[in-house]
Amino acid sequence: MRNFKAFGHVIIALFIISLSAWCHGQVELDKAPMEKAEKDALFSTIQGFVGNWWNGSDLYPDPCGWTPIEGVSCDLFDGFWYVTVLNIGPIYENSLSCAKNLEFRPHLFELKHLKTLSLFKCFRSQRRHQVTIPNANWENLAGSLRSLEFRSNTGLIGKIPSSFGVLKKLQSLVLLENGLTGEIPPEIGNLKKLNRLVIAENYLSGHIPDIFTALGDLLILDLSRNSLSGSLPLTLGCLTSLLKLDVSNNHLEGNLLKEFAYLKNLTLLDLGNNRFSGGLTLSIQEMHSLEEMVLSNNAIGGDIRILKWENLHNLVSLDLSNMGLNGEIPESIIQLKRLRFLRLSDNNLTGNLSPKLSTLPSLNALYVSGNNLAGELKFSMEFYGKMGTRFGAWNNPNLCCPLGAIATSNVPFGVKPCQQQIKLVESNTNGSDVNKTFYSIASLCHAPNHFWWTFPFIMILFLNSYIIGL
Ligand SMILES: *[C@@H]1O[C@H](CO)[C@@H](O)[C@H](O)[C@H]1NC(C)=O
Ligand SMILES: *[C@@H]1O[C@H](CO)[C@@H](O)[C@H](O)[C@H]1NC(C)=O
Ligand SMILES: *[C@@H]1O[C@H](CO)[C@@H](O)[C@H](O)[C@H]1NC(C)=O
Ligand SMILES: *[C@@H]1O[C@H](CO)[C@@H](O)[C@H](O)[C@H]1NC(C)=O
Ligand SMILES: *[C@@H]1O[C@H](CO)[C@@H](O)[C@H](O)[C@H]1NC(C)=O
Repeated sequence: MRNFKAFGHVIIALFIISLSAWCHGQVELDKAPMEKAEKDALFSTIQGFVGNWWNGSDLYPDPCGWTPIEGVSCDLFDGFWYVTVLNIGPIYENSLSCAKNLEFRPHLFELKHLKTLSLFKCFRSQRRHQVTIPNANWENLAGSLRSLEFRSNTGLIGKIPSSFGVLKKLQSLVLLENGLTGEIPPEIGNLKKLNRLVIAENYLSGHIPDIFTALGDLLILDLSRNSLSGSLPLTLGCLTSLLKLDVSNNHLEGNLLKEFAYLKNLTLLDLGNNRFSGGLTLSIQEMHSLEEMVLSNNAIGGDIRILKWENLHNLVSLDLSNMGLNGEIPESIIQLKRLRFLRLSDNNLTGNLSPKLSTLPSLNALYVSGNNLAGELKFSMEFYGKMGTRFGAWNNPNLCCPLGAIATSNVPFGVKPCQQQIKLVESNTNGSDVNKTFYSIASLCHAPNHFWWTFPFIMILFLNSYIIGL
């Protein structure tokens, strides 16, 4: 139906064209409604990226009309076509791919209606042909540019131009997985319209500048996977609309911010793999929208119980591993009904592991390995069965599993059997088979690698002695 309709439109269009041709004597298809200066600038810009061999000769009658270039879009301004979108790199199947010795041509800055510029997997050569982002002329694009993206260009090196600060209309700045070095220019703080700022997976160093006062529209801030150092800037607290904050995998240090309390809409907080310290701050429990929180691999320390965990009722994923936390696992975590992933491993947590954790309706991964938990694991067989290898409790020297649990195929990896239970079995049964069972089970829990291999054998032994005992 739609095809038919489109076909109808084509017929009508052809009719109008032939009608106007009839009226004016000749259809001037060659005369594209694109100014020569704009067309030349576009061709030169593209040639700079894809090579001089490209001359657009296959484009007829104009690059924005009937046979557009893949990755290029245009709009009409005062009856003329202007380029508004330029996507270079293998985004679409028949996209233009980049040349080996590509360059930014000055003509780029003549495309005065350009709204979106994206270069993806273009500057690839890490050694032979490295390119820096030009610092000059960005002001020519200041009136139009809304989105600027350099992604997966490992051969794109040098600093982030401070002149990006003139791009007042920019809503999205994405500099992801390139070879950029130096510091984050404070001029970025002038980009008041920004709602996405991603400067991740480069080699940036220095402090995160304290520039966020005017960036209240920001929704996504991702500075992860760089070499940033120093403490978190206080003006992060101005980002009251923020949904995602990721500064993971840097060398950041200092305390967690009290200002986190203002980030009421934040759904993701990732501070993992840094050098933060000073204990958990109460401000964390004010971020009521949090769905995913990663604080792992920081020497934050302190007692895990100081937070009212029940306030974070939207949490789906919580990773607090390797943080030097102590204290008992707070019961309030059991109120986080949406929790699916909980990792508390490699801390110094003490006390028992409450079997109530298994009542969390969505939980499908629970890691508490490498702590100081003690006592008996009291989860049901069903729980171990459901979790499988997504339950980890090894490396808690004082934790043990009752033999009842061992007699199933879902024994928790690396947890030794409880002593009293074994004595119980011993006193209830008789004979050398029990002795064998005892030592087999003991070795099973101490050397879990052999478990799958030995399990059927042990089952038979165990059942045997049970029957004999009867
Ligand atoms: C454009 O390039 C094609 C080959 O890619 C070539 O055949 C043609 O002569 C060129 N046109 C001009 C005007 O250079
Ligand atoms: C937070 O989210 C709510 C609901 O989506 C929205 O109404 C509110 O304006 C947001 N707050 C800020 C400061 O953006
Ligand atoms: C772990 O906690 C115990 C008991 O609170 C304490 O004695 C021990 O020093 C702690 N270990 C570390 C490495 O913090
Ligand atoms: C152990 O075996 C002996 C005989 O071999 C029997 O008299 C005794 O009742 C058994 N004990 C138990 C606890 O089954
Ligand atoms: C059980 O094994 C231990 C150690 O191998 C041994 O000393 C003990 O005599 C055995 N007891 C029985 C009842 O076989």
